[in-house]
Amino acid sequence: MTTHHFPPEFVWGAATSSYQIEGAWNEDGKGESIWDRFSHSPGNVANNDTGDIACDHYHRYPADVALMARIGLQAYRFSTSWPRVLPQGRGAVNPAGLDFYDRLVDSLLAAGLAPFLTLYHWDLPQALQDQGGWLNRDLGAWFADYTRLMVERLGDRVRHWTTFNEPKVVMVDGYRLGIHPPAQRDPEAALQVAHHLLVAHGLAVQAIRSVRPDLEVGIVLNLSGAEPASPSEADVQAADRAWEQEEALFLDPLFQARYPEAVGVDSKRNAPWLQRGDMELISQPLNYVGVNFYARRLVRADGEVKRIEGSEYTEMGWEVHAPSLRTLLHRIHTTYPLPPVYITENGATFPDVVSNDGKIHDVRRQEYLRAHLAQVSLAWGDGVDVRGYFAWSLLDNFEWAHGFSKRFGLVYVDFETQERTLKDSGAWYSRVIAARAVEGD
Ligand code: FCB
Repeated sequence: MTTHHFPPEFVWGAATSSYQIEGAWNEDGKGESIWDRFSHSPGNVANNDTGDIACDHYHRYPADVALMARIGLQAYRFSTSWPRVLPQGRGAVNPAGLDFYDRLVDSLLAAGLAPFLTLYHWDLPQALQDQGGWLNRDLGAWFADYTRLMVERLGDRVRHWTTFNEPKVVMVDGYRLGIHPPAQRDPEAALQVAHHLLVAHGLAVQAIRSVRPDLEVGIVLNLSGAEPASPSEADVQAADRAWEQEEALFLDPLFQARYPEAVGVDSKRNAPWLQRGDMELISQPLNYVGVNFYARRLVRADGEVKRIEGSEYTEMGWEVHAPSLRTLLHRIHTTYPLPPVYITENGATFPDVVSNDGKIHDVRRQEYLRAHLAQVSLAWGDGVDVRGYFAWSLLDNFEWAHGFSKRFGLVYVDFETQERTLKDSGAWYSRVIAARAVEGD
């Protein structure tokens, strides 16, 4: 058994997002988000759960920050809710919303935690959806206005700014599969949305730097890799195509100022949504890229492999395959001129049981985290500039269309009483942070 040691400057954190934990969906002047609207229509979310209360973090943030400090976290990745600060998405500002994030940031700093702020983790103001949502290119300029507002208020205390969380999910789940709002199934629209998200990213990068050129700016992508199920040429080609259509679709424009051929954007040169200068805007240099990794994507010529005999799967049906994280990091490191990398999400959902001793002995989650951290360390040894790791998630929370049925937290949340209990995996993570090391395979 080897021990993997991490460098002293490596950042240890945990992540959440606004809609998944805040609750207070209509308090203190907050506007409606597309997730409020979506979860309020029956049939969209498992058990018709909503984020109306979620983890009640809006009211309980002081205790939650104390919990983060108790775990020993050095950084906390969270998102701000656009409709909480701009109820209509643009125009009138809600001062109470800004005050909330101001207080949160101050508590984090007082507890010795570095705030990593994400500006968009899917809770678009409903008012902007009513104006076409991400199919409307004007949202880019409004997103930049919102960004500027946040940086003017918090840029003196928050150093790390992420524009978007997982644009791929906005595109695929929102516009291809229709399982997230606005629940459309239109592949052509999905591509246009992807482009508009990237344009909005570029405009936000400019907005941040125009206010404070010294800040660290990045984007967070979910990358699952796309590995061929066998070395056969057909499988390898299918995997390459899958990679281009979902991963390179975002990586290429961001880091190479072009779209991958397989996506077919080039053949749409005259598409009204592709404008002169877009690729330069999208590919501005970044200070970091965030990688969210959960599972391997295994591709065969006839489609994705959903189940492999002998493999372990989480409650989401995602394969546990930690070495693929190292493979993925190596691949992007050797393919693109990448800025430093943070693992901005990594974690697993398994059925958690509160034992008679009141504890949650979540050994499978702990093992998942350990195995992935070992691969991060190996990737670092390969020369990938990985600067930190954020476990998903600090708290059990509202897992989108799955509602509260899927628990990812280091901390167990009783959604009836809002009581928080540190799981065994959380206690283990504390020890890892203190030792700056994990046991390897
Ligand atoms: C990611 C999301 C995050 C959470 C995890 C499980 O795609 O960014 O909000 O839902 O998956």
